[in-house]
Amino acid sequence: MTSTAVAHPNIALVKYWGKADADLALPATGSVSMGLDVFPTTTSVTLTGQQGHDAFTLNGRVVDDGALVRVERFLDLVRELAGSDARAEVVSDNTVPTGAGLASSASGFAALAVAAADAYGLDLSARDLSRLARRGSGSATRSIPGGVSVWHAGDDQASFAETVPAPPMAMVVVTIDDGPKEIGSREAMRRTIATSPFYPAWVTSTTVTVDDMLAACAAGDFTRIGELTESNALRMHATIEGAFPPIRYLNSRSVAVFDAVAAMRADGLEAYATADAGPNVVVLCRPEDRARVASALDGYGAVIESGTGPAAHLLRSEG
Ligand code: PMV
Repeated sequence: MTSTAVAHPNIALVKYWGKADADLALPATGSVSMGLDVFPTTTSVTLTGQQGHDAFTLNGRVVDDGALVRVERFLDLVRELAGSDARAEVVSDNTVPTGAGLASSASGFAALAVAAADAYGLDLSARDLSRLARRGSGSATRSIPGGVSVWHAGDDQASFAETVPAPPMAMVVVTIDDGPKEIGSREAMRRTIATSPFYPAWVTSTTVTVDDMLAACAAGDFTRIGELTESNALRMHATIEGAFPPIRYLNSRSVAVFDAVAAMRADGLEAYATADAGPNVVVLCRPEDRARVASALDGYGAVIESGTGPAAHLLRSEG
């Protein structure tokens, strides 16, 4: 029995930064994101029998380090739900630059959740798939629904993501560095919570921003969505930079993109910058402006345009 699923990354308009419960991967606040229609992850799960370990191949290479442990722990949750002790072989093709702050784990664990649930014979609702994906990586929660989605804070049952009404939007991804980041988001979140004096203010302000963002999305107010997006990203980076020892994900080339985007706005082209846990910058714009924004950013890094992506879904179930 082999089940194959595809999922896409998402970029947060209101960021998730900090857990309320690390074991259950419950976030301290809600968050809002737009799913991309580029950089899909395609993952197959095949049950292999009761003996030995799970096997994981990523982009044609056998994985036997911490990434395998993370996949095995995730599959343990699926086995628990399914009442199975069968081992699995996972084969994944991830077109996101892995670990570069472009949410490779989001599409990765969303695709794995959909494929593994099917392979183990679980019939999960979209809500329960989103809750399951959450246990693999927080941002994967939001790669289960398509379009613009909100991931609710709350307890294990209540913390899932779902699509919300929003105007048509596009993003331009500016990849400055596609190497792995030095400090992963788990460790960086832990350090931020433990040492950044700005963290409590991040939590209270982001809780308000989620509601403001949902209202702006429902109203189709692109300008307000963009302003909140750029502000929330800078607040997240300020909070992280406030950790001790400090963590700085944005480099001078990232900041140059923020400056270029501000210059575009001054010229009447409405675009807004955001960045996750890495130096790459993603620029939010109206769909009709994406080619102009992309050409204005050519030269700052590798530039890729994206529309709004689909929900994670099963491609095939065979055997
Ligand atoms: O999914 P994680 O645990 O790698 O966290 C990702 C956090 C950010 O990408 C920086 C923000 C977000 O909301 O996606």
